[in-house]
Amino acid sequence: MKFKTTLTTIACAVLACTAFSSTANAAKIGVSMPTQSLQRWNQDGHNLKEQLEASGHEVELLYAGDNDIPTQLNQIENMIAGDCDVLVIAPIDGGSLTAVLKGAKDKKIPVVSYDRLIMNSNAISYYATFDNYKVGQIQGNYIVDALKLNDDATPAKNIELFTGSIDDNNVNFFFGGAIDVLQPYLDSGKLVCKSGQTKKEQVATLNWSTEEAQKRMENLISSNGYGPDGTKLDVVLSSNDSVANGITNALVNAGYDASNFPVLTGQDCDKPSVTNMKRGLQTMSVFKDTRDLAKQVVVMVNAIVDGKEVPVNDTTTYNNGTGVIPSYLCSPIVVTKDNLKEVLFDSGYYKESEIK
Ligand code: BGC
Repeated sequence: MKFKTTLTTIACAVLACTAFSSTANAAKIGVSMPTQSLQRWNQDGHNLKEQLEASGHEVELLYAGDNDIPTQLNQIENMIAGDCDVLVIAPIDGGSLTAVLKGAKDKKIPVVSYDRLIMNSNAISYYATFDNYKVGQIQGNYIVDALKLNDDATPAKNIELFTGSIDDNNVNFFFGGAIDVLQPYLDSGKLVCKSGQTKKEQVATLNWSTEEAQKRMENLISSNGYGPDGTKLDVVLSSNDSVANGITNALVNAGYDASNFPVLTGQDCDKPSVTNMKRGLQTMSVFKDTRDLAKQVVVMVNAIVDGKEVPVNDTTTYNNGTGVIPSYLCSPIVVTKDNLKEVLFDSGYYKESEIK
């Protein structure tokens, strides 16, 4: 790995305001993102590129079409062949990169796993993500509070469960965190899942697809008789917003509106979900400020290229099958219609005019 100290780098480092981490060494950074069809990854890619460039790096940012695994493999192979100095990768399928990353290991190119953990590869140096277990716990605890499940007077409530793509290691944490909170209530009968579908594999949604989630919710509605005039559906756990959007579509088509909408969770604060929260068609979302994650990754990359100690705050949780990967976990926060203005608009994450 060779890094060049250039005048441009120094100029950029000086120009970069204190919000940006600086480096003494300009490097070539390859960034691989899974899809451009979900807003969150567009934001991640944009923030990361902007902040890495502000640190003086040359950045090649590539999106793998719409979650196309062969495209992602190809793009990473080319970045390795092109002698990038560091790779930052958000995998589509965490288990699909073992072979291609042997090339990175051979060339001693450090790999930072971004948001999702790359499994079964000893080429991974670091992992930067949010506290994914906490995301699930926040959703579970929100449900417990919203439905007053700890109140003896509260009658049994009907719940259905949805999570994301089974090939995404994050699902183990999102679903695991939520179900660890909810399981005692399912066991005691305070929560009833009429479909009986409570296992991760039964409630997964391939590629986190809105359409797949909508189809499954439509089936649950017809097979269990849920509806504003039928069996009461009190709550739907959804691990993220793209899945929640499909659930909302199915519920609205079945006649639900803001006056009788079940509690519905989400994650990301994607724009359609912010609109739905304002309209009463989704109850909460977990906000993960992708600007913070990008900032942390830039700090990691700069420490790597400068040969300094890389800051991490978790060295026990994330084992990718080859060992524990030193990780930095950013903090997620709960957003509802009551605080979305402060968290999303006042912080400059979105302009109020961008939201319908
Ligand atoms: C991310 C979520 C996102 C989901 C679908 C997960 O790995 O952590 O923020 O909603 O992928 O893109």
